[in-house]
Amino acid sequence: MSIQNQSTQPFSGQRPGTSGLRKKVTVFQQPGYLENFVQSVFDTLGDCSGQTLVLGGDGRYHNRVAVQTILHMAAAHGYARVLVGQGGILSTPAVSCVIRKHAALGGIVLSASHNPGGIDGDFGIKYNIANGGPAPESVTEAIFQFSSSIAAYRISDAPEIDLQRLGRQQLEQMVVEVIDPVADYAELMQQLFDFEAIRSLFAGGFRMCFDGMHAVSGPYAQAILEGLLGAPAGTVINAQPLEDFGGHHPDPNPVNAAQLIGIMANQDGPEFGAASDGDGDRNMIVGRRFELTPSDSLAVLAAHATLAPGYRHGLAGIARSMPTSCAADRVAAALGIPCYETPTGWKFFGNLLDAGKVTLCGEESYGTGSSHIREKDGLWAVLFWLNLLAVTGKPVQQLVAEHWARFGRNYYSRHDYEAIDAAAAEELMASLRIKLPSLAGQNLGNYVVDYADDFCYTDPVDASVSSKQGIRIVMTDGSRIVFRLSGTGTEGATLRVYLERYEADPAYHHLLTQQALAALILIAEQVAGISDWTGRVRPSVIT
Ligand code: G1P
Ligand code: ZN
Repeated sequence: MSIQNQSTQPFSGQRPGTSGLRKKVTVFQQPGYLENFVQSVFDTLGDCSGQTLVLGGDGRYHNRVAVQTILHMAAAHGYARVLVGQGGILSTPAVSCVIRKHAALGGIVLSASHNPGGIDGDFGIKYNIANGGPAPESVTEAIFQFSSSIAAYRISDAPEIDLQRLGRQQLEQMVVEVIDPVADYAELMQQLFDFEAIRSLFAGGFRMCFDGMHAVSGPYAQAILEGLLGAPAGTVINAQPLEDFGGHHPDPNPVNAAQLIGIMANQDGPEFGAASDGDGDRNMIVGRRFELTPSDSLAVLAAHATLAPGYRHGLAGIARSMPTSCAADRVAAALGIPCYETPTGWKFFGNLLDAGKVTLCGEESYGTGSSHIREKDGLWAVLFWLNLLAVTGKPVQQLVAEHWARFGRNYYSRHDYEAIDAAAAEELMASLRIKLPSLAGQNLGNYVVDYADDFCYTDPVDASVSSKQGIRIVMTDGSRIVFRLSGTGTEGATLRVYLERYEADPAYHHLLTQQALAALILIAEQVAGISDWTGRVRPSVIT
């Protein structure tokens, strides 16, 4: 066995963002491609002797091959130890948890989140730092610089590691420890939530359905819900991670998780439903015949947080992305704690969490999390809800109705116009920006515009400024329309229109969402000229 230098070409990959490098599997299969990125990560980190690396992925196609390659490169780079999930599996939140618990220098996550998997699908790689969160831009930029000038990578030619066999194996001078992917994560969850109360809930006949979407969270949900908490076998559906996610789109929303929505529509079916995405960091919560918006979920969790043991001392603050509804702001105000409004993207929560300014954070895009790790966390949100249901004895729908009665209801919906012409999308936004100054004070339908701007964020911790983060038109009653272009789409551009209507009066809390928002939908079209610019008369996805 020896360590070899292999020559390689620099690749002109696009800059990896904080969500890492995502490409087609076939791109990652090119000789030297993955190696190039990994060597660039290691070159950026410098001397790693004595350090621990965490490694795992969401099980999609190419996961095992990539895990072997990275292990052999880590051995050539002087790591003392790599903690790798059995079978190469670790959810994104579990990687964050394991890094923090074992004081690792960092971790590598192999995932393209909710992007399609399989041989024709996507693959991805991301580096997380010692706090358990995605590497900041300074690090990803350095990785990019190395990757475009690299000439060689170092790799061991030792035989493959048996990824199924739990425990220690030796690779050159390095120890590879194959760990149970669920154990550390499950232990953390037991510190945060009242497992005793949830166990009694299930023992009393309570039924739920968790849709693993054939992605990584299936084994976690089975071990925790059916194993530790005693939910009946079969509670977790689509539980087995498949390399192509069974051909489905593992991104939880009512459209993609239609099977779960169908089950939850049954009057005699389970009381509680949930789903997670490809790498286990997103969550969707469903009641019986009731779909909960992620914005409301964040607000309800915040209002009841002290019922969960991990949050019994209260919250330092809440953070939400700008397009997320303002429901959480009202809770923060009632609790007398700050509520931070950040640009879209989980990375903006990192500084606030590290500085202890916030405990809970969330995005409208089915992402919720807390200071327990530095990624959003799908199953964590599900357990938080179970904790509330167990302690209050109330179903989701009742908790939410009571919440609205107390704080008012923020009707909320996102309309996506996918794969539109990129130039037209830019022009739509540019023409909106020009209109902004004239909108303040104007009557639009029954609404009066309070202010309209292009969201600009100054980080309260490091004072960095992020401008042009989305156009918002805010009405005097707190209703809002937000326009922004997706930063994660792969085909053309995606325009996201976020619609929010605030309604204080409980007599109006039972409208259908799209009907409640009809006037704002019309205003959005009139102000932005969506159909003129995009040629689309309706959105491609409504959530
Ligand atoms: C989307 C979501 C955003 C989330 C991101 C990564 O980004 O809207 O909230 O942080 O995926 O999961 P977008 O495509 O809108 O830029
Ligand atoms: Zn994800």
